[in-house]
Amino acid sequence: MNKQCPPPQANGALIQVTRLSKHYSNGHGVIPVLRGVNLEVLPGEMVAVMGPSGSGKSTLLFILGLLLPASSGNYRFLGQEVLNLSRADQAEFRRRRVGFVFQNCDLFENSTVYENLEFPLVYAQVERQERPERIAAALERVNLAHRMYHPANRLSGGERQRVAVARALVNQPLVILADEPTGQLDRQHGQMIMDHFAQIVATGDTALVIVTHDSQVAERCHRKFSMEDGVLYEN
Ligand SMILES: Nc1ncnc2c1ncn2[C@@H]1O[C@H](COP(=O)(O)OP(=O)(O)OP(=O)(O)O)[C@@H](O)[C@H]1O
Ligand SMILES: [Mg+2]
Repeated sequence: MNKQCPPPQANGALIQVTRLSKHYSNGHGVIPVLRGVNLEVLPGEMVAVMGPSGSGKSTLLFILGLLLPASSGNYRFLGQEVLNLSRADQAEFRRRRVGFVFQNCDLFENSTVYENLEFPLVYAQVERQERPERIAAALERVNLAHRMYHPANRLSGGERQRVAVARALVNQPLVILADEPTGQLDRQHGQMIMDHFAQIVATGDTALVIVTHDSQVAERCHRKFSMEDGVLYEN
C-alpha cells in the first residue's frame, strides 16, 4: 500500500525536503498545488516520480531546482537550508549543483547544438579551452556527436530531447532534475538515456529525480513515488 513519505531523518542525504507546500493565489482564492511534501534523496540514488497530469510533479522539480519559490516548508541540500538563500546564492546553486531537463526541452532555437550546450558552461565560468571537450563528451553520451553544429530548430523531437539531456549533464551537476526526459524517445533511445543516468549516479555523488509516465523508466530507479493531488507517496 502507498504510504505518505515520513519527514526525512537520515544524515548524509543530498536532498531533504520537509512539509513543502506551494500554492497560488488568484482573484477567487488560493489554489494549493503541493501539500506538505516530504522527500529524501541520497547521493547515488535514482528516484522516479509518477502521477496524474496536474498533480504537482513539475512544480516539485522547479522548487528543487530553485526555479520557483516554495510557499512554506524546508529544503536542505547537503545539510544546508536553501529556500532562504539570497538571489545570488540561488543562482550559484543552480549553476553549480543542478542539471535540469525541462518537460518542453526549450532549447535556444536559433542557436546550434554546440551553443546550447555551451551556455551553462559560460554561465558556470568554465574556461573557454575546456568547453569543446566537455560538450563533445556530453553529446557522445546521447549519441549526437554528429549533430554538434546543427541548428536547434532543425532537430527532430527525439534529438531535441537528447540535446536537452546532454545540456543538463554538461555541468556535472550533483542532482539531475529531469521532467519526462524520455517522453518523445523510442524505446532504444529511452533506454540509452536511462543507462547513461544510471552510469552517472553509480559514481555515487550525483542523484537523479525523474518525472515520468513510463513505468519501464520508473522500474529502472531505486525508489518510486506517486504524486497525487500535491501529496507525495512512496510506492
Ligand atoms: N502560475 C500558476 N498559477 C496557478 N496555478 C498554477 C500555476 N502553475 C501551475 N499551476 C497549477 O498547478 C498544478 C500542478 O501543475 P504541474 O505543472 O506541477 O503538474 P504536473 O504534475 O507536472 O502535470 P503534467 O503531468 O501535466 O506535466 C496544475 O493544476 C496547474 O494548473
Ligand atoms: Mg509537468
